[in-house]
Amino acid sequence: MQLNQARIVLTGATGGLGEALAGQLAAAGAALLVHGRDSGRLAALTLPAGAEIKRLPADLTTAEGVARLAEAARHFRANVLINNAGVGGFGLFDGQAWPEVERILATNLQAPVHLTHALLPWLKEQPAAAIVNIGSAFGSIPFAGFAAYSAAKAGLRALSTALRRELADTPVRVIHISPRAIDTPLNSPAVNALNLELGNACDHPERVAAQVVAALRKGTAERHIGFPEQLFAWLNGAARPLVDRGLAGKLATIKQHAKTR
Ligand SMILES: NC(=O)c1ccc[n+]([C@@H]2O[C@H](COP(=O)([O-])OP(=O)(O)OC[C@H]3O[C@@H](n4cnc5c(N)ncnc54)[C@H](OP(=O)(O)O)[C@@H]3O)[C@@H](O)[C@H]2O)c1
Repeated sequence: MQLNQARIVLTGATGGLGEALAGQLAAAGAALLVHGRDSGRLAALTLPAGAEIKRLPADLTTAEGVARLAEAARHFRANVLINNAGVGGFGLFDGQAWPEVERILATNLQAPVHLTHALLPWLKEQPAAAIVNIGSAFGSIPFAGFAAYSAAKAGLRALSTALRRELADTPVRVIHISPRAIDTPLNSPAVNALNLELGNACDHPERVAAQVVAALRKGTAERHIGFPEQLFAWLNGAARPLVDRGLAGKLATIKQHAKTR
């Protein structure tokens, strides 16, 4: 996709990765509808001069917040949705109170699923469109201490793959990015300490943002950031391209039956 023709809804633009993404996308000539939950932080977000920028605060764990952002996106004539907003979720599963588990699932999985569902009919009408889902290495390599977070990110990865197959004959490309740890406020001091002790690399948000922007430009379907995370993710799903090809031949039949359900 040519970024100077892209009109992008970016969720979580007030966060570490979101702010880096907003800056790089605006610098590349994209028009942006930036979203955050905190209206003060959203108003304070500084972006390259000359870029077309609109701002909309919303809590995406509420139906009302999703509906408002989807409406604003249609009004903005968006052709790209970047589902970036998220929350961390470190803790042993049975030590996490249910409201915390709910918040992890609602923010990292339900919110992007809901927003994608609300915007997809609009995106399908655009001559060229993309949905970019910011997942996590834990979506492919589920990690102890991150059970609910891994479940949410694996769900987002599955949504991305299924939708990519379902939308193969439409103008909508589906891109899924799996970053490893990023140096942002999402990670608590306990997570930073854990990563340090395990020797887990932690990337700078500008570096990750550059890879997301490159994937959007090229229409890359799946990108895992970092090694050895790439290798482990591959080991978890070595046969996916074969399945892609197998399912591509069944798409028409699947669509036919979907009409009668
Ligand atoms: N940091 C990492 O190590 C890491 C690694 C892999 C993947 N990721 C993924 O990268 C993405 C960006 O994370 P980040 O590291 O940039 O995190 P961050 O700095 O904590 O930013 C999170 C963003 O999500 C927004 N948000 C949180 N809850 C929300 C809600 N209920 N409704 C709407 N927006 C909400 C925040 O808005 P407010 O600021 O207004 O609250 C903020 O803009 C996430 O999807 C995360 O899972 C991060």
